[in-house]
Amino acid sequence: MIPERSKAARELLAFYAEAGVDVAIGEVARDFLSAPEPTPVPERPAVAPRSADAPTDARTANIPPRPAFAVPPTPDAAVMAAREAARTASSLEELRAILERFEGCGLKSSASRLVFADGTPGSRLMLVGEAPGAEEDKQGLPFVGRSGQLLDRMLAAIGRKRTDIYIANIVPWRPPGNRTPTPVETQICLPFVQRQIELSNPDVLVTIGQPSTGALLGVQGIMKNRGRWFPFQTGTREIRAMPMLHPAYLLRSPIGKRLAWRDMLAIQKELG
Ligand code: URA
Repeated sequence: MIPERSKAARELLAFYAEAGVDVAIGEVARDFLSAPEPTPVPERPAVAPRSADAPTDARTANIPPRPAFAVPPTPDAAVMAAREAARTASSLEELRAILERFEGCGLKSSASRLVFADGTPGSRLMLVGEAPGAEEDKQGLPFVGRSGQLLDRMLAAIGRKRTDIYIANIVPWRPPGNRTPTPVETQICLPFVQRQIELSNPDVLVTIGQPSTGALLGVQGIMKNRGRWFPFQTGTREIRAMPMLHPAYLLRSPIGKRLAWRDMLAIQKELG
């Protein structure tokens, strides 16, 4: 490359890195700031006359795929659309499918994919973190990066594996550069995780870190609230919920592991 061009390219890369860009999500640049394309209304193909003896695939071939949700015009409209959409899900599979089509959260356009959940739906213990990081975004699973590996070791210390729990995040798309989700993004995604908890129906809920604790339990101050039990209404019943320190914090401040160990024992005791 010509020296000036290579210098310009290096400066542009440095600018991107400072702005929080740390992953390429496509081969071709896309202008995320331009007005969104209007959602096309799918044309309904002419429906073939139904005949009782027509083969099944011929009868279903004319059913158009379900259209994506339209982009809501304001954050308030997006929160309302999220509440309405989450309410209609009658199973976790349906909830995932609805989230795949939901267009109300801007994070979806910069993330590579939806990170819905891991573990076993219906487990007695459910954990909810903040948002996917780079590794989670790559694999489409929550808590598979460094902090997830520490979380697995913490669970192993109380005799539990990934398959013994169900785990998700407040926000199911990775925020660019791993920034904290904004309050608006959190409010838009909240109805979905609330419905996810209701549908998985755990006995014990653990909120991992302050953003998850604040969003789900409405309390501030992870240091003073970790290890305490709170009542949590799933929508169908009341269960017990406990905030715990985020493993990403424990990686930076290993002294906190002492407290985390105490919390793990309390969770174990609660599960019996
Ligand atoms: N941190 C989170 O809160 N969630 C993940 O899935 C990974 C890291």
